[in-house]
This record gives sequence, C-alpha cells and structure tokens, in this order.
Amino acid sequence: METVTLTIDGKKIISPAGTSILKAAQQHGIKIPHLCYHPDLKPYGACRMCLVEDEKTARLMAACVTPIAADMMIQTTTPRVVNHRRNIARLMIAEHPESCIVCSKGNRCQLRQVAAQLGIGETHLYHLPNYKPLEQANPFIIRDLSKCILCGKCIRADHELVVVGAIDYNHRGFLSRPATAHETGLERSSCTFCGTCVSMCPTGALSTKNSRYVGSPDRETNTICGFCGVGCTLAVGASNEKVTEVNPAHLSDSVNGATLCVRGHFAHDFLNSGDRLISPLVRNNASEEKDELVPIAWENALVLVSQRLMEIKSKYGPQSIAFLGSSKCTNEENYLFQKIARVVIGTNNVDNGGYTSGQFRYNVFDVKTDGGFRLNPLSDIQKSEAILIFGADPNHSVPVLSYYLKKAARQGVPIVVVDPRKTELVKFASFWLRPRLYTDLELINALAALLHERQSYDSKYIDNYTEGFSIFRYSLTSLDLERVYRVTGLDRQSLTELAEMLEGKKIAFVVGHGILQQKYGMHTLGSILNLSLLTGSLGTSAGGIYVLARENNQIGAMDMGNVPHLLPGRQPLDDEIARKKWEKMWQVKISPDPGLNMVRMIEAAEKGSLKAMYIMGENPLRCLPQTERVQKALAKLEFMVVQDILNSETAQMADVVLPGAAFSEKQGSFTNLEGKIQSFHPAVAPPGNARPDWEILDLLAAKMAQTEGYETLEKIRMEIRKCLPTYKQLNGHGQGWITPTSQKALFDHQNKDNLITFYPVVTTDEKSEDTKYPFTAIIGSLRYHLGSGTRTSTSERVQGFDLCGAIDISPEDGAKLKVKDGDSVKVSSQFGTVQRAIRLKKEIRPGELFVPMAVNGNDAMNLIDLRDLADPKSPGWKSVRVKLKKA
Ligand code: SF4
Ligand code: SF4
Ligand code: SF4
Ligand code: FES
Repeated sequence: METVTLTIDGKKIISPAGTSILKAAQQHGIKIPHLCYHPDLKPYGACRMCLVEDEKTARLMAACVTPIAADMMIQTTTPRVVNHRRNIARLMIAEHPESCIVCSKGNRCQLRQVAAQLGIGETHLYHLPNYKPLEQANPFIIRDLSKCILCGKCIRADHELVVVGAIDYNHRGFLSRPATAHETGLERSSCTFCGTCVSMCPTGALSTKNSRYVGSPDRETNTICGFCGVGCTLAVGASNEKVTEVNPAHLSDSVNGATLCVRGHFAHDFLNSGDRLISPLVRNNASEEKDELVPIAWENALVLVSQRLMEIKSKYGPQSIAFLGSSKCTNEENYLFQKIARVVIGTNNVDNGGYTSGQFRYNVFDVKTDGGFRLNPLSDIQKSEAILIFGADPNHSVPVLSYYLKKAARQGVPIVVVDPRKTELVKFASFWLRPRLYTDLELINALAALLHERQSYDSKYIDNYTEGFSIFRYSLTSLDLERVYRVTGLDRQSLTELAEMLEGKKIAFVVGHGILQQKYGMHTLGSILNLSLLTGSLGTSAGGIYVLARENNQIGAMDMGNVPHLLPGRQPLDDEIARKKWEKMWQVKISPDPGLNMVRMIEAAEKGSLKAMYIMGENPLRCLPQTERVQKALAKLEFMVVQDILNSETAQMADVVLPGAAFSEKQGSFTNLEGKIQSFHPAVAPPGNARPDWEILDLLAAKMAQTEGYETLEKIRMEIRKCLPTYKQLNGHGQGWITPTSQKALFDHQNKDNLITFYPVVTTDEKSEDTKYPFTAIIGSLRYHLGSGTRTSTSERVQGFDLCGAIDISPEDGAKLKVKDGDSVKVSSQFGTVQRAIRLKKEIRPGELFVPMAVNGNDAMNLIDLRDLADPKSPGWKSVRVKLKKA
C-alpha cells in the first residue's frame, strides 16, 4: 500500500495515499471540527468548518475533501483558520431561528457544540432567520428547515446509505433546501421513514415526532433492535426509565452502521404503550358474572403456575402440556424454556413463533450442509457476482438488508428478482421473472438444466465437495423444459438470457417467506441448494444462501432447541447419539416422542388431548390462521399461562399472566440472520412489577423441579457455551459469531470424504384453475409492521400513519369488477372473509391480489387454512384462492 508522510500540528504522520486530511488527523488523535462530514458518506465539502492551513503554501483547504500529499505541513488551529471557522459559524447562527431552548436536539446539536468550541456567544451580525414552514403531517418526522445548514447529510444518507432518493436539493441560494420531488410532504413521496436522515442531521432541522414533549434523553445505551432478524444496533435514549428516542448506534462493526428502518427508528414507542403488563394477573371467575384477570403477588403466581402444571403432568402425563416460546426472547431464555419442557415436564412439545414463517424448512439446508450454510456476513453480499432473490421483499420485511442489495446493484452486481409482484427492488434488478405462483421450483430446476446444458458449472467444486452429481445431472438432462415454460408461464428466451448472464458467476441467494411459507417450500429450498452447489457458490465469500428471519431471535430460538424436532445445537431429536449427549448433560431421560409444533398444539387442544399451555411472548390468536378456531381450541385447555410484555389477545384468555420485560429492559443475547451473536444490556428498568423473562423461568423451574435455580444469566450462558460448541463465542458483552462445526468437506477441509449430496429434482403438480375462487390472494407484510403486528400496532406512531391495509389488485381486474381506488371489497376464501378498501396497482398481475398483514387485528390470516406447514401437502400460508365482491 502506497503511503504518504506529512505533518499535522507538528506531528509526523504516515497514512495511506488517498486518505483525507481529516481522516489522517482523526486516526492520529487530532480533532478537527466538522459539520457536513460523516465517515459513512462521501465527503462533500459543504460547510467549510473543517478548514485547515498548509504552512508551506499558506493555502486554506477543507480537510474532509482534501487528500493528504507528501510533505504537507498542516496546521489545524492557526488564528487564521479559527477566524474563518468563527465567521462561518456566526453566519450560520445569524440565519438560524432562536429556538434552541425548546429544540429537541438540545445539547446534541452539532452547530451549538461547534459554536461553543469556537467561543461564539453573540454573533454581532444582523439576525436574519431563514424561516421555512414546519412540515409534520406524518407521524414520524418533523422537518423544520429553518434550522437547516445545508450540510447535505440527509440527502447523501438518503441516496448513498438507504438508496431511496426521496429528497434532494431544491432551489438555489437563500431559498435552497432539501425537499422531495414537487415539494410534497414526505408521506406523499418515496420516503420509507427509515429516519436515517434524522439521525444524521447535525441540527434540529430534522427530528423525531413525539406526541408530547420529551426533551433530550438523560442517557443513551446501545442495544439490539427487537423487531426483525437483521439485528441492527440501536442507541436507545431514555429519561425517567422510559425509552424516549431510538437512533442507529453508528458503530462500524454493526450490521446497520448509521441506518435503521421505520420500525427500528420509530415503532419502539410501543415500549411505553398503555397495554404493557405491569403485574402478574390471575383469572378470577368465581361467579358467573365475574370473569376477569386480577393482580396477584409474584410468589403466589409462581406457586400457582408450578402447582397446576405439576398436577396436570401427574394426572394426564407430560404430553398433555405444551410450551410455545418466543422468537423474540433471548438465547438464554429460549434455552431455559425448552429445558423446562424437556427436563422438568418431560415433553418435546416446544416451539416458537418462528414456526409461522416456515422456520423449520431451514432443515433442508441444515441437514444437507451440517449447518455449514449458516454463517453469512451481510458485508459479503457486495462481493457476490450475482444475487438471486426468491420470494422476498426485503424493502418491507428486512429493510436494512435491502440497503445492502441496492448498494450491490449500484456497484454493478446483477440482481435477479423472482417474484409475482413488482417489488421495489425490481427497479434495481437486471432481471425480473414472474413465474406462476408455486412454480419457483420449476424455474430453478430449469435454470440449473440450462447452466448444465451450457457446461457452465464448477466441476472442481462439485468433485471436491459434493456427491450424487451424476444422478442430479441425469435428472437435469431429463427435465422437460417445454413443460417448465408451460407451467411457469415463462418463455425460453428470458430463461436462456438469465442462464447466459449467470454463466461462471458465484451467486448469493436471498430467500424469503414467499418460499418458506409457500407450497413446495421445502423442495424449492432443495433446488436452491442444488443451484448453489452447481455454480460452486455455497461456502464462498462471493456466494452463499441468505434466508430471511422475520423475528429478531428466530435463529437463536431454533439454535437453543426451542422447536419440537431439534435439541439445542440443532441436533435432531431422533438422533439417539444426540439425545444421549443431552441426557448426560442434563442428567435426565429425554422423551424420544416427537413433540407438537405450534399448529399441532392447537389441533391437540381442539381434540382435548392437550390440557395446558405455557405461552411465552407469542400471540397465537393473532399470528395463526383461523382465529376463531384457535380461540375455541385454547378455550378448551384446563390451564393456560401467558408470559408476555403486552396485554395481547391471547393474554386476555389466560388463567395466569406473567409480565415479562422487553429487550430494552433486560440483558441477554440475540443471534441475527448472519449468524452473529449479539449481547446487550438494559437501557431502562422493566415497568411496574414486570421482570426479565429468564428470571421468571428460572424461578419457576426451581419451584417445579424443587432445585436451585441458575440465579444469574452468566450461569445459563456458561452452560450454553459448554454444551453448544456453535455458541462458544456467546459472552455477556459485545458480539461473537456462531462457530462453524460442520463436518462437510466444503467447510472442514480435514473431512475430505464428507460430501454434500444434491437434493432430488422434484417437479410440481399441474392443477386446473378453481373457478369458484378465481383469484389468488398473496398475503404479505408492510414495512411499518412486523409479522402479525402485536407490537407495532400498539405503536402510537404506526397507528398515527393510519394504514388501512388496502388490498392491491390489477387495473384490468378493477375494470372487470367495476371497482375503483378506495371502493370497499369483500375478499373470501374457503376459510374466511376480509373487507377492506381496494387500490388499483399496475404492479399486480391480473388474477392476483395483495393483502397486507398485521392491520385490522391481522384479519388477513382468516383467509388461510390452519394447516401444518410441516405437512408436505400443506398448501402453505403465503397465498390462497379467493373470490372478490364489491361490498
Ligand atoms: S436538513 Fe439537516 S442534514 Fe439536511 S441539509 Fe439541512 S442541516 Fe443538513
Ligand atoms: S427517512 Fe429515510 S427514506 Fe425518508 S428521506 Fe430520510 S433517509 Fe430518505
Ligand atoms: S431492519 Fe430489522 S433490525 Fe434493523 S431496524 Fe429495521 S426492524 Fe430493526
Ligand atoms: S466538514 Fe469539511 S466541509 Fe464540512
């Protein structure tokens, strides 16, 4: 690397050529004031606050945009430099309104900080505030551009970091300001309300909208986002034990850096919702007129739960009890939860909310690669040579991941979107393929066949790391491509062009719920694995498989064995050696009976064979299909405990309610979709008498098993580290990665004979259209809500956005049905009906409609059949045949 030697403030400095003076100074502990500079943004040189002087040439230059040169003698604090900075700051302040006292930026305003450093009190200039109208029609962001210093950070953040392009400079000179196209409000622009511009803004020009004045937070704590599986690092601001503000933590080793999405930035106000549970509750139904939940002391609640569960166990046996845990709770809590089920009660009836997003289907990859596929840093995605996105709309489901994809596209990585809808990523894509629903599998097989036909496969990789290639290639050569074109509705030319583009490339595969929850999901994942092996992509830093995780700790919950078919460490329950290992560890006999998953639990409750459920942090009455059926099933239970943070629909049915703590109120760790284990500490105390969930579980387990509890989180972590080699980097501070333990040759070069087998090539059924239900409804999420929306719908800001969940249909269908934008329609499937307003969208294909989840109590789930997703014949939960009628 070429280096340059110079002096800054008399200090000899050697830095790589091309480094800016500002960076070189910072790297050597010399501070230069700046306003428009941010390490994640391209330097812009707008504010001139970073002016420095070269002693040799007497030139003044902006340190953020000037690269270092040999023998420069930079001075950062000469009287001339300071005088210039003072003049610039005075001019900025003279143009600024005098509202600092009530400005929410408070002491964090960088203009104020710089002015204070420069010793500016009075400006001694004519005060000429540049007033602009306040913009606050949306519930998330207030724009008070009277305070704008035209640093351009918001615009650069919007363009460079989140790649949206909602704002840009408008007008010139005194009138200039960042604005949307046609100067509409943000709510009528392409803005996604990610808030990245807000946390970048050095002044109070952009701020978070609050329903009441909250002032500057007393303190800030870094933690991990409680919503999706990307696992962004948040800086949580708090005052009086309440979270008042959330910003990105701006850490260079975090997955999100300076960005967040609308949920992470703005929806955490749900933490202060009036629906928070603050005391243990017990059902008082002593008389017919009275049936209510009333407060009870912690000790009494725990004794009651322990006694009732042990009674039910001894009366009906361990299989009469089920434990539904949470993909939102920490690794430590998930570990304890499944251990209570398996060790104290003796049942494998344990699952978590990850079930609803088809989590168990990861099994295909896990089994085939011995878990090797799992370590996937998102920073590698930009190194891939092509990105194939199947059934995923990351702009809505995992927005921060979408920033990586859009940036990769900007850098020239070809993106292929395979989706029935024209998602927002399509405008960044080189190819957009719209196979008929359920036929992704056929498309992937065909792509593999075309690549094979062109002899475009990685023979060396295949020889070294895979087996079964001869059978696989035979299946590919026998594939009837004409049938594939007919079934998928795609033409030969587009598939051939795609195969041509992919030739010789290492591919990153992004797989979403459109595959995980869909009919043929398991086989489709198998075909993706095949394509990744054929192209030699899996296990390389330029390729890999990224499976979206809807919830923040969906991955960790599964790793901790909070699923019926896997013991901790994702070891199969039906593997006797694995069972023996855990039996030795826990000193108990583990039941070999396959446990019930989430839907099977409901079916067992319906039949009456399940007598009790312990539900922690999940809301089956909102996240499962056919709410009424679920409600009736839960009502049949003899005993139901709900441990949660919100008074959810399910909590309201419970016999005992135990108030848990949200992520921001406790310690623990989450594992994100990259395989990064992130530990965190509480930002505030739990409200009222609520307690961290691990503490509740520990106390309860000790009571039920009549043993001592762990008492500290560290003791639980020690056990996890000891028993789970993949989690040896789990610590109480900072982050680690899951430790690869795959014995497959691809991931462990000592094991030359342990090869990955290709998945069998499977084809789909060709079925005729169902004329009674002529449309197909696709169920999906909007970026404002997460999953079923239990938490996000209690966010005042999200509520304030007034999402009505309009159903999108094609203009062609709109014309046929004689409906226009805003008309109310009834959408009915075999299982239920929803009534909503309609929106005509050309992004939707005729015959299909898009029904957003989470709104109206997540009534979209009523359209779906409550069928076990693990059943290979399950039609899936992603789409359903429906009919449509104007209401
Ligand atoms: S709104 Fe804030 S970030 Fe944007 S240009 Fe103005 S001062 Fe800079
Ligand atoms: S909130 Fe996000 S999308 Fe909207 S303007 Fe700011 S950076 Fe762009
Ligand atoms: S992308 Fe996911 S983890 Fe990141 S801020 Fe948004 S919801 Fe939170
Ligand atoms: S920080 Fe260098 S010009 Fe603004």
